[in-house]
Amino acid sequence: MKRILIVHGPNLNLLGEREPEVYGKLTLAELDQELSAFAAQCHMEALCFQSNHEGALIDFLHAQRKLAVALVINPGALTHYSYALRDAIAAVQLPAVEVHLSNIHAREEFRRVSVIRDVCLEQISGLGIVSYKRGIEVVLGRLVCEELQRFLQQRPALEEGYRQCVQLLKQHFPKYDWAGIYLVEGSELVVHNYLGAPTPHTRIPIGQGICGAAVAEAQTLIVPDVNADPRYLACSLETKSEIVVPIQGKQMYGEIDIDSHTRDAFWENDQRFLEQMAQSLAKWRDEVSD
Ligand code: DQA
Repeated sequence: MKRILIVHGPNLNLLGEREPEVYGKLTLAELDQELSAFAAQCHMEALCFQSNHEGALIDFLHAQRKLAVALVINPGALTHYSYALRDAIAAVQLPAVEVHLSNIHAREEFRRVSVIRDVCLEQISGLGIVSYKRGIEVVLGRLVCEELQRFLQQRPALEEGYRQCVQLLKQHFPKYDWAGIYLVEGSELVVHNYLGAPTPHTRIPIGQGICGAAVAEAQTLIVPDVNADPRYLACSLETKSEIVVPIQGKQMYGEIDIDSHTRDAFWENDQRFLEQMAQSLAKWRDEVSD
């Protein structure tokens, strides 16, 4: 299993008793336990570390730089002034996300400044433990995209590229309860491969349902609550939200379709990295058919 570092800076050891109205009631041990369980569901191993000392945090990053594949870091107050920590994050070259429990943009002026932000893929703040979980999702999206790209560079058989994409998504995103690829055949979308509960919708006319609409409109569709969308072709009572991303290169090849049993499961990161995955597939398809 690949290792992801979950790093907490100064004063976060006092979580639970430290200003609970700002940082919540969860202790650091509880936070780490929940994040480790979440990472395990994503097929990752979380290695959690906290220190009140800048140098200890830097030493930890150096020591782990070749053993881990990604970093989610809440630098605490070091966020606002530690160039040394910033340089360490840049030096270790791990895809990193800066996270905060509280909303640093809605507090004192000095907290709005982050000297860490520009060496991270993203800054996520104000969502409590969800900031960390989203941070994990961001680095996972990056890793999964890179893995698909590496796979496609080996020029796999047509079948295999599409299968690999679905497998990577289902394996690393537990909230993706159903993940599949439909391909365009004439005026229909035909399911190519999927992981999740069997679907009755193996052929969908383009223009019909959310799947058909995304291809007809050539754009990603996110439906936070499928039961509130009249276009939804019901296939499972458990499905609550859906995202559909067209695979479009020199022509419209098909789409990535994902269902979740959680309402409102998808946020900007899902759209961003799934569009990158779809783009890689489209480029590969363009090259295969040249
Ligand atoms: C914090 C915000 C920082 O400004 C503060 O110094 C912390 C915690 C957060 O998680 O909200 O120690 O990073």
